[in-house]
Amino acid sequence: MSLRDPNYTLCVSRLTSEPVVVRSPKPTHVPDHHILIRVDRFAFSANNITNQVLAEHPHFRHKTHGVLPFWGFATVIKSSHSKIEVGERLLGFFAPTRYLVLPLSDVGEVSMYIPRPHLPADRSIFSKVVRCKSDPAYQPFTEDLMMLYRPLFWASYWCEDWLSCSDYRGNCENLLVSSASSKTGYLFAYCARNADRDIRLIGLTSKKHVSFTKHLGLYDEVYDYDTFLTTKTFQSNPGRKWIYVDVNGNAALTTKIHKHFSSDYTGTLAASISLGLATKSPIVAWEQQLALDAQLGADPTLEPNFHVMGQKSSCANDPDIWPQREQFFTPEWLAVRKKQMDPTEICALAKSEWSRLVQDCQGWVEMEQVYGIDGVVKAYERILHGDVAPDKGLIWSLWDQEAQVQADNMMYQTRL
Ligand SMILES: NC(=O)c1ccc[n+]([C@@H]2O[C@H](COP(=O)([O-])OP(=O)(O)OC[C@H]3O[C@@H](n4cnc5c(N)ncnc54)[C@H](OP(=O)(O)O)[C@@H]3O)[C@@H](O)[C@H]2O)c1
Repeated sequence: MSLRDPNYTLCVSRLTSEPVVVRSPKPTHVPDHHILIRVDRFAFSANNITNQVLAEHPHFRHKTHGVLPFWGFATVIKSSHSKIEVGERLLGFFAPTRYLVLPLSDVGEVSMYIPRPHLPADRSIFSKVVRCKSDPAYQPFTEDLMMLYRPLFWASYWCEDWLSCSDYRGNCENLLVSSASSKTGYLFAYCARNADRDIRLIGLTSKKHVSFTKHLGLYDEVYDYDTFLTTKTFQSNPGRKWIYVDVNGNAALTTKIHKHFSSDYTGTLAASISLGLATKSPIVAWEQQLALDAQLGADPTLEPNFHVMGQKSSCANDPDIWPQREQFFTPEWLAVRKKQMDPTEICALAKSEWSRLVQDCQGWVEMEQVYGIDGVVKAYERILHGDVAPDKGLIWSLWDQEAQVQADNMMYQTRL
C-alpha cells in the first residue's frame, strides 16, 4: 500500500446511517478490459439515497456498511482496454471514492457499460458510463450541472413525455406535484411548462420550502402540506381533472390527497403517479418497506425496485387509494420510446433539451462545492439531520481541493 496515496471511500452505516470514510490501498492491478479511474467529484441529492435504499437486498444486510451510488465525473488513469486511453473524461454512476477499478463491456463511441449481470437488462442505464469527448451535450464548464441535474432532468422529461403520449389522461388541466422543491419535482414542472399545454401546475412542499419553491417561478401555485386542502384551489372547481405526480413518496400524504378527491364536491383525480420517494431514509428503510407491504397486502416476494410500470404498486391494495397508483420508471418508458423514435431523433433531442435547460436553470440553485474527507463527512451528517436547503446544489469530492484534482489530471494527460 502506498502510504502517500491511499484510497478513501465514503461508506454509510446500515445501522445508524452515520457516514464512515474507509482507508484502503490504492488499487494498482488493472485486469484485462478494465480501467482504473480517479473519481474527481460527485453530486448529492435525495435520489442517491433512494437508489441506495431500493438497491438494498436483505442478502447484503448482514454487512454493517453500504456505499451510496453517485453521479460523478472521473478521469481514466490506467487502462487495459484497447479502446480507452489514459486521461479520458467520464461521467457515470460511481462509488464515492478516490480510485475505482471498473470492468468494461460494450465500449462504443459515446458510452460504455460496467457489466452487472445480476441486474435486469433494462436497468443497464445505471451501468452506463458516458465518454465525455464524444458526448454532444458535454461542455466542461457545465460539469456541476450535469452531475446534479442530468439524470433527474431526463427522468422528469420522459415522465412528462409519458403523460403527454396519453394526452394527459383525457386532457387533465391540473398537475399536482409533491416535494415540489426537489430537483425532480421542479424539473418535471419545467418540462410540463415547456410542453405548452393549457395546464395549471400546483406544487406541494414543506412549510420551510414554500418560499424557495415559489421563487423558482415554475409552478402556478405553491402550498404547504399542512394547509393545502383549505385553499380555494382545492375547495372549488368540482368539474376539473387532476393528475397527481408524487415525488415525496409518503403514504399518508397520498391517502390524504386520494381521500380529498374522492368527494363529489372536488375535482376528479384521473391519475396518481409515483415518481419519487424523497422521504425515504437510508436507515431501516428495507424493514419499513416490508412492513408497509405486509400491511397493504402486497406480494412480499416483489422487491420495491422491480415494480413494473403500469402494474400495481404496493399502495394498490389500500381501499382508500383510487385511482390505482402507477409507478413511473424511466428505463421502462425509454425502452418503449426507443422502439417508436429514431436514435438520431433521441440524440438531437438530448442535445437541444439539455442546452435549453442549461440556459434556463441559471439562478435556481447555488452550487456548494465541498472538498476533502472531513468536509464530505460533515456535509453528509448535515443531510442526515435534515439540514439541507433545496437552493443548494451539492457537489462533493474526496480530494482535498479543486487545484489538486486539476493538477493531477493534467499530469495524467501529459503522460499520454
Ligand atoms: N422514477 C424515476 O425514474 C426517478 C428518477 C429520478 C429521481 N427520482 C426520485 O425523485 C426523488 C427526489 O429526488 P431529487 O434528487 O430530486 O431530490 P432533492 O432535490 O434532493 O430533494 C430534496 C427535497 O426532498 C424532500 N424531502 C423530504 N424528506 C426529505 C429528507 N429526509 N431529506 C431530504 N429531502 C427530503 C424535500 O422537499 P419538500 O419539502 O418539497 O417535500 C426536499 O427539499 C427521489 O426519491 C428520486 O429517487 C425518481
